[in-house]
Amino acid sequence: MKLCIALDSKSKEENLKLAKELKEYSKDIWLKVGFRSYIRDCKEFIIELKKMGYNIFLDLKLYDIPNTMADASEEIAKLGVDMFNIHASAGKKAMGAVIERLSKFKKRPLVLAVTALTSFDEEEFKKIYGSDIKTKAKEFALLSYEAGLDGVVCSVWESKEIKEITGKDFITLTPGIRPFKEEAEDQKRVATIQEAKENLVDFIVVGRPIYKAKNPKEVVKKILKEIQ
Ligand code: C5P
Repeated sequence: MKLCIALDSKSKEENLKLAKELKEYSKDIWLKVGFRSYIRDCKEFIIELKKMGYNIFLDLKLYDIPNTMADASEEIAKLGVDMFNIHASAGKKAMGAVIERLSKFKKRPLVLAVTALTSFDEEEFKKIYGSDIKTKAKEFALLSYEAGLDGVVCSVWESKEIKEITGKDFITLTPGIRPFKEEAEDQKRVATIQEAKENLVDFIVVGRPIYKAKNPKEVVKKILKEIQ
């Protein structure tokens, strides 16, 4: 299992400070660049993080028509990131178009599909998708697998069953991690590291419990020890 840290701080300086502070672990951890950082700090930020030796997960959750998604994916691959994500609900054709477009790259980034956001509770999810979370997340995962994607973003509570219907190498990346039972805040389907391990998760994403901690490095050290 790998640790991916969400760089969601309110300034580029704060994110870079954290990345520099954790540089000795750059081979062991991934950094997640999301909407906030990418919109504000653009591709120069990615370049700076890559220079420090980190693997980068660009979390932009693409959702559009197939051609537009394929075009955007090609540009993302040119940025040199190692992984990015798209919405499974964009459909199999759109996901297939993304993979097809990336096939021209010698080394392409991993592509994951978002199933159900971990901030959804059952009631809100049902209003939008007309189904319970687990059933839909599994349907989306199967669709992504058939479209040739590398894995999915899901909650810890769907990871094991998704692997059963796809394959053990189909990646599961799970946000909503509260490593040692910290405050859930806006997340609804949270889990600890131990629970992620039991559910065969490949990547855990941790944001606020690290970047809002008094001593982020200590928290990272503790997490790395626990995930070994
Ligand atoms: O601070 P916290 O640990 O809750 O951060 C979780 C990160 O994972 C955020 O950057 C959020 O955008 C992202 N994420 C999520 N649920 C998903 C996909 C991404 O929470 N399904």
